Amino acid sequence: MAQKYKIEQGVKGRQDSLLGVYRRKGVSFASGKGARIWDTSGREYIDFVAGIAVNVLGHSNPKLVSAICNQASNLIHTSNLYEIENQSQLASRLSRHFPGRKMKVFFSNSGAEANEAALKFAVKSTGRGGFVSANNSFHGRTAMALSVTGQPKYWSGFEPLIYRNVEFFDYGSIESLKSHLNRDVAAVIMEPIQGEGGVIVPPKGFLREASAVVHDNGSLLIVDEVQTGMGRTGRMFAHQWEQGCTPDIVTVAKGLAGGVPIGATLVGEDVASAIHEGDHGSTFGGNPLATAAGLATMEVIESPGFLDRVISRGQYLFHSLSDSLRGNESVTEIRGKGLMVGIEMLGDSAKKFADYAFERNILVNVAHDSVVRLLPPLVVTEEEIDSLCATFRSFSSSAR
Ligand SMILES: Cc1ncc(COP(=O)(O)O)c(C=O)c1O
Repeated sequence: MAQKYKIEQGVKGRQDSLLGVYRRKGVSFASGKGARIWDTSGREYIDFVAGIAVNVLGHSNPKLVSAICNQASNLIHTSNLYEIENQSQLASRLSRHFPGRKMKVFFSNSGAEANEAALKFAVKSTGRGGFVSANNSFHGRTAMALSVTGQPKYWSGFEPLIYRNVEFFDYGSIESLKSHLNRDVAAVIMEPIQGEGGVIVPPKGFLREASAVVHDNGSLLIVDEVQTGMGRTGRMFAHQWEQGCTPDIVTVAKGLAGGVPIGATLVGEDVASAIHEGDHGSTFGGNPLATAAGLATMEVIESPGFLDRVISRGQYLFHSLSDSLRGNESVTEIRGKGLMVGIEMLGDSAKKFADYAFERNILVNVAHDSVVRLLPPLVVTEEEIDSLCATFRSFSSSAR
């Protein structure tokens, strides 16, 4: 107890010097393995947050750890002034997931940066200045990424920085999307499943139809796979569930390097041909360390059976949750794909459940105030899923 008290004091002391942009739980983690994570007092948790969809291979994956250690012991950083072998390899590895197309890749350090680059490239390659994005979307915290984020709470107070030539459509509605298209629209940006918006899955066929409608307008389609990409839904990229959805630009980050900061903007040939030396850049983007981690992460995700297991674990999670939550009147919907699942709950039940689960050593996150969002490491086991479901069952009976 005395030791725990000391640690909490220590964490608080350090936080006094941090800018208060986050509401943090009073816990600090010291180590992890797979979907398990231990706090500084040695208490074990099952992690259904995975650093918000980042730790796709779980914690301390040996292949990822050894790739990072090997690379760090040789070279951590050089510069984009020079060739970076890992970067070229990671670009071609990403590009291979778009058969029949030659995607070119720009590397940065985060999802917001990946989107910022995508929006710049769209303007440069179309010569147009407008954007269309979805209500309830989230694309990041930099000025342009905020401008296309369809949740005003993220940009209110920063209006002078917000780009005005953006219109918002109702996610999932082709009619609404069409009504915002005109000859000034450089690109339409959308998530294949809205993550921060509360795990909103669009109707079947929406992404394919949207792709056609956007292209008919001479605009580009930017698909933001920052949260949904890298195997999260059981395909390398979530939009690939829908044949005929052919984005011109795809953005990736979070899971790409398994926890090492990285962002990537993948562009088709037409966009690539409009981008020239000096048009964009980044000091750190795609450095040897981050791209070594990206290569190791992709190697594991691409290994035989890995994505099939994500699909079957996702089904197991979905069915187990449906069974466990049957009769819980505060649950209005369970939705998602693969290992990206949202449980919509009435009132403040989602927050109450997150606290209840935390007390029982399970980490879950709440999105959009009312949705328990599950984004476990893609290596989560059935036994770990069973523990979560048992916690949901006991939560339901305690509320009766
Ligand atoms: C869909 C989407 N795009 C962009 C971002 C921003 O990514 P980052 O926080 O790495 O800048 C996020 C983060 O949650 C996201 O979910």
